[in-house]
Amino acid sequence: MTGESASRVDAPRVSQSVTALIAAVAENGALGKDGGLPWRLPADLKRFKRLTLGHHLILGRRTWETLDAPLPGRIPVVVTRRPGLPAGLLRAATVAEALAIAVAAGDPMPFVGGGAEIFRLALAEDRIDRLYLTRIHQSFDGDTWFPAWDESRFRLVAREDHAVAEGHPYPFSFHDFERRR
Ligand SMILES: NC(=O)c1ccc[n+]([C@@H]2O[C@H](COP(=O)([O-])OP(=O)(O)OC[C@H]3O[C@@H](n4cnc5c(N)ncnc54)[C@H](OP(=O)(O)O)[C@@H]3O)[C@@H](O)[C@H]2O)c1
Repeated sequence: MTGESASRVDAPRVSQSVTALIAAVAENGALGKDGGLPWRLPADLKRFKRLTLGHHLILGRRTWETLDAPLPGRIPVVVTRRPGLPAGLLRAATVAEALAIAVAAGDPMPFVGGGAEIFRLALAEDRIDRLYLTRIHQSFDGDTWFPAWDESRFRLVAREDHAVAEGHPYPFSFHDFERRR
């Protein structure tokens, strides 16, 4: 064995983790209202569960507090500047620290799950490799908005359009983006 190949074998494995963002956004950019979602779309909740199951979910402290129940099968990491979260809950002082926790645990695809402040930080810091957007083709009254983002930096790799259907009173689309390299 040459010295070169031996050093490759001995080298520590480099993490292949990618960072995803998942959000549901109305036509007018609304993300939330009064600490909740302004719409109810069971197909979107199902997709959220399917994609995030088994992964770390990075949430701002305010979004964490809006959850009525734990998210089974997901590992929440709460971004906050405050002490005092429940014992055992993973917390981070920044989005970068939250991602580092997920990557250190071996998660190949941690998800940034909002809310608006955390989406804004993750996009502004250029941390997002994949974006899973649900676009709801209707405007809603909101008090929290998806941040401006540079769509030209991403490539649309999948799109699924849904018409109005039972239990789904608005048309919506699932858009999957990957960052251009
Ligand atoms: N439609 C969707 O896909 C979606 C997804 C998620 C959430 N939402 C909605 O979004 C709304 C909540 O969003 P939000 O923007 O108000 O709050 P948020 O992003 O969930 O949380 C904000 C909190 O994150 C922490 N934080 C923010 N910047 C930080 C920084 N630089 N360093 C450390 N910690 C920082 C602070 O916590 P501390 O105050 O504890 O320091 C801040 O109060 C809710 O209505 C929710 O339903 C919608």
